[in-house]
Amino acid sequence: MSSQRPATQPDTKPVAVPANPRFSSGPCAKPPTWSLDALSDAALGRSHRAGVGKAKLKAAIDRTAAILGVPAGYKVGIVPASDTGAYEMAMWTMLGERPVEMVAWESFGAGWVTDAVKQLKIDATVHTADYGHIIDMAALNYDHDVCFTWNGTTSGVRMPNGDAIPGDRKGLTICDATSAAFAQDLPWDKLDVTTFSWQKVMGGEAAHGMLILSPRAVERLESYTPAWPLPKIFRLTKGGKLIDGIFVGETINTPSMLAVEDYLVALDWAEAIGGLPALMARADANAQAIFDFCATRDWIANLAVDPATRSNTSVCLRFTDARIVDGVAFAKSVAKRLEAENIALDIGAYRDAPPGLRIWCGATVETSDIAAMLPWLEWAYHAEIAAQVQAA
Ligand SMILES: Cc1ncc(COP(=O)(O)O)c(C=O)c1O
Repeated sequence: MSSQRPATQPDTKPVAVPANPRFSSGPCAKPPTWSLDALSDAALGRSHRAGVGKAKLKAAIDRTAAILGVPAGYKVGIVPASDTGAYEMAMWTMLGERPVEMVAWESFGAGWVTDAVKQLKIDATVHTADYGHIIDMAALNYDHDVCFTWNGTTSGVRMPNGDAIPGDRKGLTICDATSAAFAQDLPWDKLDVTTFSWQKVMGGEAAHGMLILSPRAVERLESYTPAWPLPKIFRLTKGGKLIDGIFVGETINTPSMLAVEDYLVALDWAEAIGGLPALMARADANAQAIFDFCATRDWIANLAVDPATRSNTSVCLRFTDARIVDGVAFAKSVAKRLEAENIALDIGAYRDAPPGLRIWCGATVETSDIAAMLPWLEWAYHAEIAAQVQAA
């Protein structure tokens, strides 16, 4: 077994290879059973407003709600422009009614802070933590609106649970759950707005965003008109009433029916393997394989400082070997070696994150592929240390 071979020599390449080397954090690997042929029933060349298209869009909504256990009374909609579209739509339509707390511990959260402070010009209270850390969510004022990212995709730090969020809050919690949905337990009673996209844990195509609203979020939309103008693709109400059609498949503008079909195929797979518990278990097993690997090595560690906050989807790693001279170059070279061997594609850390690796462990990734990849990571690390010594 290659995993038992101590790949401490740069010329000792492991034997086993991952069947699928795709460990990108988005777009993420397709479901293991996926094939292009599975999309042959797509409603292509038809109006998305025709019965067939509308039924598919509604099925995507209903089956998402069922798998995620979204409570009755919540609204689930398909909106333009992926997760960013969904999240900014929420910010632009709901913020400004009361004070706002913005929370960021990595790049995507920081982007929402910029939106609120620089674009909407809201005098928000901003809470930030460095990569690897999380802020104290219990210290926030939940009578204000709170904007945060459940799983920080670029730092691999996630909310361990929603316990810090009070049930009787007066403000809205607006949660970017794009790399958490379908892999982590989302406590719906603590979330008023939840957004995500299809190309993460489900391995869908990038195009549309999902927007999930609690009854209190709907109430906000129907009772509050922001001071700023709203483009058509952000408008969720008409005449002070929620546009209900958006939440039954009547999208604001034209969706890709190919992307919709692809998402339905991913939902088929998710249902067939056992729904949310099975999806979460797959991500957990993938991430655990990496955690175990790191625990027995003194040269690599999880970027997430508190184990309770370690992501089970976007696992971010840093090299801890004191001999490494240039951390950025080293991590890039390791990623490049693994890509050149077709062992792991797209695993370099996000451009704004500390140097290291980011390995996607979402539900569509097979644990056997993670297990086959790890000895190669060890090989690439030793090869790169050797190359550094030689260059010195
Ligand atoms: C946490 C988070 N928020 C937002 C985004 C942006 O998502 P999209 O490209 O779907 O708009 C990403 C993308 O990786 C993400 O991980």
